[in-house]
Amino acid sequence: MSVAAPTLVHVPFLDLHAQYDSIREEVQEAVNAVLESGHFVGGEWVEKFENDLAEYVGARYAVGVGSGTAALELAFKAAGIGPGDEVIVPANSFFATAEAVTNVGARVVFADVNPLTFHLDAASVASRLTPKTRAIVPVHLYGRAVNLAGIERLAEANHLMIIEDACQGIGAGRDGVMVGGSGRLTCFSFYPGKNLGAYGDGGAVTSNDPRAVETIRMLRDHGSPAKYHHVAVGTNSRLDAIQAAILSVKLRHLDEWNARRFEHGTALIHALGGPGIRPPALPQEGEHNFHLFVVRARRRDALKDFLHERGIDTGIHYPVPLHLTPAYQALGYAGQGSLPIAEALAGEILSLPMYAELTEEQIGGIIHAIREYLNQA
Ligand SMILES: Cc1ncc(COP(=O)(O)O)c(C=O)c1O
Repeated sequence: MSVAAPTLVHVPFLDLHAQYDSIREEVQEAVNAVLESGHFVGGEWVEKFENDLAEYVGARYAVGVGSGTAALELAFKAAGIGPGDEVIVPANSFFATAEAVTNVGARVVFADVNPLTFHLDAASVASRLTPKTRAIVPVHLYGRAVNLAGIERLAEANHLMIIEDACQGIGAGRDGVMVGGSGRLTCFSFYPGKNLGAYGDGGAVTSNDPRAVETIRMLRDHGSPAKYHHVAVGTNSRLDAIQAAILSVKLRHLDEWNARRFEHGTALIHALGGPGIRPPALPQEGEHNFHLFVVRARRRDALKDFLHERGIDTGIHYPVPLHLTPAYQALGYAGQGSLPIAEALAGEILSLPMYAELTEEQIGGIIHAIREYLNQA
């Protein structure tokens, strides 16, 4: 694309207000309807959103819960994962992927990631299998749908479950199957900054498995299939009716927002690159929702500072690989060198601003600033 003149254009990392501006009336109408109904927990808004989401991803069921973290924990519990079990997760993910494993009493085992997709690497998973391994958790990281072929082969050969962390993956798909439409337990987050974000916390599990779905419905509500009838120890992790009503409104816009992200993402991929910086691999149409646009840069921190001075905010997802976080020190990963790709990535990755409402001027500003940096570096 042609690159804008070097005027200083501020590009916030995320601009939730710009999105709200475009749907204000629809959202306010939906919130008002819930307020007037007086039904704030469960009820028709939650059921409607669950149906909308299941239909959107192509699953038989969707269950709304309190957050993406809760979705993972409840999915693990419904799958019967607990003490004595090992669950393999990628070392490059948000902390909650691992935290949920620990919180159900299982042992988290970290595997390395693929250097091009940044996704869980099947060969590394294979090297970490033990007789205690029960499940593998691929993460549709940054919004790119994971190519599950290698992991599926491993799971089948070793009788393991695959539980998908799709907290960043809504609206992406691969080979005609949407993320969440595989039939397996798939976990979503509606944290405000996600592509489908609530105005507070929220999450969901989609699946084609009626028993697992029934269990999650029961566990999210104090283990009670009927009021005051507790058949298991569950928790309180329900999706609020107000959030559900907002999410149904936003779901109607999701494809359009994701399409714009895709346009911005592919424009950036075509414009960036060269010595010192590597943009993401060009995705197939629909494979990537560009929740995050993550480049690899040799001198990442210097680039981050340079962009900051030019008014362009950036992030790092994530600065410390999970096996090296203090919280998992007790697992005994031997520091630097144990999962080399995830460790190398953590020092090189940089997330550029990415949202549907980015203007051409802002994208031009990002490209111009990066080229300027590369020319002087
Ligand atoms: C990959 C991943 N897993 C899990 C979560 C947890 O979701 P939540 O923040 O809704 O609990 C998130 C979101 O932050 C995420 O990005």
